Amino acid sequence: MENIIPFEQGMDLTAKTISGLEEVLAEELRSLGASQVATGKRVVLFRGDNATLYKANYLCRTALRILKPIGAFTVRNENELYEKVKRIDWATIFDLKQTFSISASVFNSSMTHSLYVSQKTKDAIVDQFREKLGRRPSVDTEDPDIYIDVHINGETCTLSLDSSGHSLHKRGYRIATDKAPISEVLAAGLIKLSGWDKDGDFLDPMCGSGTIPIEAAMNALNIPAGYYRKKFSFENWKDFDAELWKQIKDDANSEIKEHDYPIIASDQSYKAFNIARSNIRNAKLDQDITLINKPFEKMNPESGKGILLFNPPYGERLEEDNIIELYKHIGDVLKNKFQGYEAWIITANPEAAKFIGLKPSKKLTLFNGQLESRFIKFEMYAGSKKASKQD
Ligand SMILES: C[S@@+](CC[C@H](N)C(=O)[O-])C[C@H]1O[C@@H](n2cnc3c(N)ncnc32)[C@H](O)[C@@H]1O
Repeated sequence: MENIIPFEQGMDLTAKTISGLEEVLAEELRSLGASQVATGKRVVLFRGDNATLYKANYLCRTALRILKPIGAFTVRNENELYEKVKRIDWATIFDLKQTFSISASVFNSSMTHSLYVSQKTKDAIVDQFREKLGRRPSVDTEDPDIYIDVHINGETCTLSLDSSGHSLHKRGYRIATDKAPISEVLAAGLIKLSGWDKDGDFLDPMCGSGTIPIEAAMNALNIPAGYYRKKFSFENWKDFDAELWKQIKDDANSEIKEHDYPIIASDQSYKAFNIARSNIRNAKLDQDITLINKPFEKMNPESGKGILLFNPPYGERLEEDNIIELYKHIGDVLKNKFQGYEAWIITANPEAAKFIGLKPSKKLTLFNGQLESRFIKFEMYAGSKKASKQD
């Protein structure tokens, strides 16, 4: 059929992620057996079979969605889109009784309205069902069985099935949030980017809803990223292999282990403390995370080595009277109380971060939602820099 490229079943796959985490996700995919892994902007392309697809959903901490392309073709306008979407045999993909939704993203195209693109795609699908079977499946935008992704870039349209369904950052453990919670996927990505060697304390002294310590505990204990999640969209697909899926989950769950060093979370706000407590309990991690309701300066480092990883208020999304004072204070506490530790701070306020007053040893750029952010590393040597190096 002209211009329609059929993809081999479950072979070419696309994982979406947050800008700045592409390489981390590529490494995760390689480690679970994906081949031909290549990074793009907020995506990682790879090849694999159904097992790879299931594993990517269950194990990748830094993926937002795993897409399975089902067709690619050229489009110049909405009518052409309608005609070409209709050439795909949708009844082989899902049933009349299943609900579906369409998500469209459009770049560099004369078709500027993504809503209209999804409307046209939906029309083509329901018209085809009606013409063939006399009835049509229903759309459900909240919790559909089948998620269809339309991606138009210039004149190229790629249609994919979204195997994840709800975004994979919705891990299932977070039942409450305080102000400005960080995405679970970003938190997991920061932990991986920090290179945390799990040899020493892990501290988040401004833990808010507890996302960072929960992700740290999941990482340290080998708890799969999808462990708490109830469902994935691929479970509704016609080719769903329940036995393979169970095997993959059982294998991954059997790798869950103990972790020796403390994971410590604290926040000065009693409200945040309570929210973090309910999330930690919901994740059944109350034995693994020590939760404290204290200001940063009152925390006492335990083993004398380890890592602090946190996102202080930025001053943009949170009402802070004196954001500069707060960042100066962070620098003082790090210098005076956390010698022998390294600290990683993510902030969307690089100006305020200068007031920490310590020399960063690394700076990375990432996005926290829409906010361009810096992820900055500081090393607080126990003695002089030289002595610490000799150690
Ligand atoms: C951006 S929020 C952290 C969000 C968190 N990562 C999450 O996922 O929910 C910043 C937190 O820092 C806390 N905070 C601000 N100053 C503090 C201080 N001096 N000591 C301890 N916590 C502080 C605030 O109460 C707030 O919960």
